[in-house]
Amino acid sequence: MGNEEMMSIAKKRGILYPSFEIYRGVAGFYDYGPLGGLLKTNVMNLWRKYYVAGEGFYEIEAPTVMPHDTLKASGHVDNFTDPMTQCGECKEIYRADHIISETIGEEVEGLPDEKLTEIINENNIICPACEGKLEPVKSYNLMFKTQIGASGKQVGYMRPETAQGIFIAFKRISRFYKDKLPFGIVQLGKSYRNELSPRQGVIRLREFTQAEAEIFVDPTNKDHKNYKNIEDYILRLFGQEQQLTNSEPITISVKEAIDQKIVSSQTLIYQIVLAREFLNDLGIPDEEIRFRQHLPDEMAHYAIDCWDVEVNTDQYGWVEIIGIADRTNYDLSSHIEHSKEDLSVFKEYDTPKTVVVTKPSFNMKKFGPTFKGDSAQAKEILENTDPEIIKKSFETENSYKFSIGDNQYEIDDSFVTFETKEEQIKGERLIPHVIEPSYGIDRILYAMLLHSYTEDMTEEGEKRAYLKIPAKIAPIKVAVLPLVNKEPLTEIAEDIEITLRQNNLISYYDASGTIGRRYARADEVGIPYAVTIDYDSIDDKKVTIRNRDTFEQKRISIRRLPLIIKELIEGYTQFEDVEE
Ligand code: GLY
Repeated sequence: MGNEEMMSIAKKRGILYPSFEIYRGVAGFYDYGPLGGLLKTNVMNLWRKYYVAGEGFYEIEAPTVMPHDTLKASGHVDNFTDPMTQCGECKEIYRADHIISETIGEEVEGLPDEKLTEIINENNIICPACEGKLEPVKSYNLMFKTQIGASGKQVGYMRPETAQGIFIAFKRISRFYKDKLPFGIVQLGKSYRNELSPRQGVIRLREFTQAEAEIFVDPTNKDHKNYKNIEDYILRLFGQEQQLTNSEPITISVKEAIDQKIVSSQTLIYQIVLAREFLNDLGIPDEEIRFRQHLPDEMAHYAIDCWDVEVNTDQYGWVEIIGIADRTNYDLSSHIEHSKEDLSVFKEYDTPKTVVVTKPSFNMKKFGPTFKGDSAQAKEILENTDPEIIKKSFETENSYKFSIGDNQYEIDDSFVTFETKEEQIKGERLIPHVIEPSYGIDRILYAMLLHSYTEDMTEEGEKRAYLKIPAKIAPIKVAVLPLVNKEPLTEIAEDIEITLRQNNLISYYDASGTIGRRYARADEVGIPYAVTIDYDSIDDKKVTIRNRDTFEQKRISIRRLPLIIKELIEGYTQFEDVEE
């Protein structure tokens, strides 16, 4: 129970529904409706609270259309593929690994195309639609291709992840942070994947929203400054070992997971802990969350360690909603290679290091007559050759040979001598590594809604089904309900609603039907507080505020209402502590 009932409310009440419905829809696209748009913004703003305000990572916004060269460099043009098989008869397309695991019940994600073809043939897996023979598996690139400009010469793609916009702008971002590692930067926005045959509703979208942080760290130091504060936290980890031995996830402290090298770094495990706090804040309890390590075959082309944060669902089993990866310097190195730009940072040592350096000293009088037009190049070659090689050659051959173009040269130690001395160096240039928490906002929203779905009894003893959305992310904060649909109660209620809106509190005025029906309508979409205006309100200027979850009621002055509701939403005040 859960998915069907929750989705029924979501569709009926304008939270979430399939896109393009009047044209019979297209799989993999969902609209956020009048309440869904607000809800999603609130989830994204809660994420910003954690990552931008909390972690101190600034936010950028890069284009969603990217030129071919950028995604060629990132590896997406060549590697961002899914295995596809097509029915030879009816031409239906299937994701090969999915059709295999659905048929034989084994996880085969990440296996090469030839192996998947072999498994299909060995197990006589046929087209589920028409029982036709399936064709050999081939790789299908998931990116939406487009063209930039009218000529058709510049190929572009809709970005498959927000992360690349950050890597490409790394030089400016690093300068913004004065090159001081570690630093993080975030981006929230749409990404696009032209999924082969999405059949899992909101879980597999072709256009979806990501919230990603790229945390740039010193490759030799992935420790985290807050590690001591989280060492004793207990996590449920489903590591590679448990998966490969068909065992259950283990319950283990952060410290043990790091000491036993189950999780590769403090910064990565810190992100696991942060993700759990964020999900708890959305009302998803610990027992519905687990952390699953990617198997070596499953890892994305850029990752060396990756943990999925998975949430339990009735419809789709354990679903990945966040991925936390160590991407090493894969992306920055690829962009250095392709763009020829220097994307390294200068790491200053705490105290300068003393190093022994050997430097050449040239007898330039001999260079002109010997090398003529090649003089400058000869000097450059000798400067850039390991001095030990040249010195060894002088010792063993009495000469050192090299060529410039077709010209062969042989020099002795009268051309160059070497001096060895101690030098102080302040630091070195390095290419940072990246730890990346990548949040799938749509899946998180789905999981939050699913776990918010609640059935219980009202104060009147009637059955109610509603979305117990945490107050801080509920799209509407207050229902304003005149006890009866008559003046002057309606006028007072309308004034209250205007005042609430002026205080940036989205409210909902409802005067039709019994108060019980109106509470039920408000509860259904998760409105956390309902305010009732009755005949006493005319004289005492007070209203009754009701808590959606506990049915508790408080009578408070209209004047204090906006501030009290804000304090309740932010969690600064608990309902039971509100003074009447
Ligand atoms: N940036 C990771 C992902 O999009 O999967």
